[in-house]
Amino acid sequence: MVVDGQSSQSLALAAQALQRGDLIGLPTETVYGLAADACNAQAVAKIFKRKGRPSDHPLIVHVTDLEHARLFASDIPDFAKRLIEAFWPGPLTVILPRRTDVATAAAGGQNSVGIRCPSHPIARQLLLAAQKLGVWGVAAPSANKFGRVSPTTATHVGEEFGESLLIVDGGACTVGIESAIVDCTRGQPILLRPGVLTVDQLSVACGQKVLLQGEQFAPTANAPKASGTLLAHYAPTAKLFLMDKQVMEQKLAQHKDAFPLAIWSRSLLHALSRAHSDKKTKLHWQQMPSDAAQCAYALFAQLRAFDDLGVEQIWVETPPLDSGWEGVHDRLRRAETAGR
Ligand code: TXA
Ligand code: MG
Repeated sequence: MVVDGQSSQSLALAAQALQRGDLIGLPTETVYGLAADACNAQAVAKIFKRKGRPSDHPLIVHVTDLEHARLFASDIPDFAKRLIEAFWPGPLTVILPRRTDVATAAAGGQNSVGIRCPSHPIARQLLLAAQKLGVWGVAAPSANKFGRVSPTTATHVGEEFGESLLIVDGGACTVGIESAIVDCTRGQPILLRPGVLTVDQLSVACGQKVLLQGEQFAPTANAPKASGTLLAHYAPTAKLFLMDKQVMEQKLAQHKDAFPLAIWSRSLLHALSRAHSDKKTKLHWQQMPSDAAQCAYALFAQLRAFDDLGVEQIWVETPPLDSGWEGVHDRLRRAETAGR
């Protein structure tokens, strides 16, 4: 059931559901979450089951502020505090050492915990209402089946989990891709998953260079597991291919309606106008925003919309390599790999 997040009655209902140990669909500014009381192991087990996610893949715990983050984290290094001061509430998750015996199931049994303080006004009201009922933190992965594209509207969540889930409608997510995740457990900040915050912004805020997982900083045996960083993730049903404008033009000229196809490109394609003049075309084109934030906002909804058209392939023009595009690049690359 989808309920209006603007209504205080709906928020009370949702907070009570969390207190009871039930799941809800939670709107945040990044993507919708499949949420449960982070300290209730049985409720958390329902998330893993419903999502089809292995139970050793840790979930992010959502809190209202730093004070509540301290209930879950045993230590917050200074550089993490600076990140938190700069970007909370907002699209940043910090991985911190976990207090023993707190949110063990939510953390997938790891000795660290991912914590985020969302800025979405309805998420905040809901977290506060749940807090009054004794729910200190809310575990929530993105509200999609494991490996699929994250939902950015209440309707998407309904498509993933059906009407039996209580889904709080908070409108379309304004950020559109998941939070940036910075591991703060290894003495220096390491970016595990890019989001809309750039590495430069993160580095400036925390006063030291934020390293990139796998590049400057090789993953080690004790590195935390982040399933959102699996190479094959965020997959639409259609096969997705990234290519630059020239390759797209060439392939399109040869395509000749061989199969239903969707194209998301910033450039207007010469071959496309010819294909479009044929009314019987099985070709769908949408213009990709030329601004990184707008592109992130549109990304997952666009992939879902292409899937709904029943296309076999989605061709996406490779986005610019400029700073600010890391998050969009990352999700598209994973979507491309997942389809292989
Ligand atoms: O924007 C977001 O982060 C959204 C909204 C709902 O808050 N949530 C989200 O959750 O994307 P999820 O579960 O789909 O992705 C969370 C990622 C996973 O890759 C998980 O492995 C990683 O965070 N993660 C969580 N706790 C961790 C930990 N203790 N150590 C390492 N990675 C962790
Ligand atoms: Mg996810």
